[in-house]
Amino acid sequence: MSYNNHHKTFFPMAKSKHVLSLKLSITLLNLLIVAATAAVTNGLDTPSSKIWRPWPFKKLNKPVVLMISSDGFRFGYQFKTDTPNIHLLISEGTEAKLGLIPVFPTMTFPNHYSIATGLYPAYHGIIMNKFTDPITGETFNKGLDPKWWLGEPLWATATNQGRKALTYFWPGSEVPKGSWTCPKELCPHFNLSVPFEERVDTILNHFDLPEEDIPDLMMLYFNEPDGAGHNYGPDDPRVTQAVAKIDKMIGRIIQGLKKREIFDEVHVILLGDHGMVTNCDLKTIYIDDLADWVKIPADWIQAYSPVLAMNPNWGKDVKNPGEKNAELVAKMNEALTSGKVENGEFLQVYLKEKLPKRLHYSESSRIPPIIGMVGEGLIVRQNRTGVHECYGDHGYDNKYFSMRSIFMGHGPRFRKGKKVPSFENVQIYNVVAEILGLQPAPTNGSSLFTRNILLPFGETRDVE
Ligand SMILES: *[C@@H]1O[C@H](CO)[C@@H](O)[C@H](O)[C@H]1NC(C)=O
Ligand SMILES: *[C@@H]1O[C@H](CO)[C@@H](O)[C@H](O)[C@H]1NC(C)=O
Ligand SMILES: *[C@@H]1O[C@H](CO)[C@@H](O)[C@H](O)[C@H]1NC(C)=O
Ligand SMILES: [Zn+2]
Repeated sequence: MSYNNHHKTFFPMAKSKHVLSLKLSITLLNLLIVAATAAVTNGLDTPSSKIWRPWPFKKLNKPVVLMISSDGFRFGYQFKTDTPNIHLLISEGTEAKLGLIPVFPTMTFPNHYSIATGLYPAYHGIIMNKFTDPITGETFNKGLDPKWWLGEPLWATATNQGRKALTYFWPGSEVPKGSWTCPKELCPHFNLSVPFEERVDTILNHFDLPEEDIPDLMMLYFNEPDGAGHNYGPDDPRVTQAVAKIDKMIGRIIQGLKKREIFDEVHVILLGDHGMVTNCDLKTIYIDDLADWVKIPADWIQAYSPVLAMNPNWGKDVKNPGEKNAELVAKMNEALTSGKVENGEFLQVYLKEKLPKRLHYSESSRIPPIIGMVGEGLIVRQNRTGVHECYGDHGYDNKYFSMRSIFMGHGPRFRKGKKVPSFENVQIYNVVAEILGLQPAPTNGSSLFTRNILLPFGETRDVE
């Protein structure tokens, strides 16, 4: 509990890559604290006396991050109904003003793993919830084989550097990685039947452990309101109910932390992976409608929508499949823009190398050679067999506002009542690493971003 402990567990790690040696940093910090303390005891209330305020915590002697994901929590859902607990985090914390921008494709597994690793899907390997590797022919379907899961997720970074992590159903967290073995006590196996209350209470119970056994990093997952959003579409009363339920769970967490007098000491981050949009049968593009231009067999298509993923099988006799793919893309786009294909204007087909750069969706051999970008809320199907009603989906271009989710952070390093411009979720890894004082792995986030969103160490908020 001494000051030196704080420095050892916290300050030097983030700085170790800089020129200053560890020892010098600690010495400098001590000097500054002594100076600040002297200023305070002298009764001077100069701004500088606030800069190097000592570690303000009363109960915990280390930074702790509790990150909570609410699947499919579209930006704006927080206004559907009374959400007093979410709004407490917003008003007393820092919020992405117009929501959190997901990565493309805006699906659950790619996005949760981008949040965990700070990498775009092309670099962390989980390019869709389900896909077939064009080279090996092997299929990924949310499986736990480590060979699929690239990059270094936060729970691995933490445990590699001697910290303790706890994951509760976070996609990817059951995969062994570095020092992370997914130990039973700290990594329950995915089971959607576990009530949300039980998930919350398990997390809260970990705060009753002896100080050194409290996990530094905890990552909790709720599978709503995604489920209700898929089944009924985002504007259904049952989605509103699911939002109210999530708010209640946030309230349970806040109350549990307040009871333990650590609500102001824990960094609580609430976010979601993506949004949700309505889609209906009337807004469908049928692949067979392109037959006058080009015939496309169903077995060339790995996924229809919201992302059309195609890996044509040209057969062994074709010498240059790349050329054939380019011809196919050209023919499909000719059909789609002809005005003769129902809803054709809402689908654009690309060789993956030609996709807009902002999607960062080409540099992986796992991404199939042809990708179709489907308009917001549109569906793609092979033909008109099978009747569907309206429902909800996500996975579309991350430029659509309906695909955005929420981000808010509450705790010592987050300013109170602060709004920041929307940002991509690949930035979050560095934010958590900075709070915990971890040496970050390389990411697609910017190392400067954390300055936008976090108070500098030493300028943390007062504990109230
Ligand atoms: C899933 O959770 C439910 C509710 O806690 C429990 O009854 C069930 O046994 C669990 N299933 C597995 C496979 O652990
Ligand atoms: C429609 O497409 C599905 C594959 O998506 C196929 O199984 C079915 O036979 C097709 N129906 C017709 C009438 O072509
Ligand atoms: C993303 O990060 C990976 C790992 O550091 C790197 O190889 C890749 O070039 C980065 N891509 C972009 C678009 O920044
Ligand atoms: Zn979903």
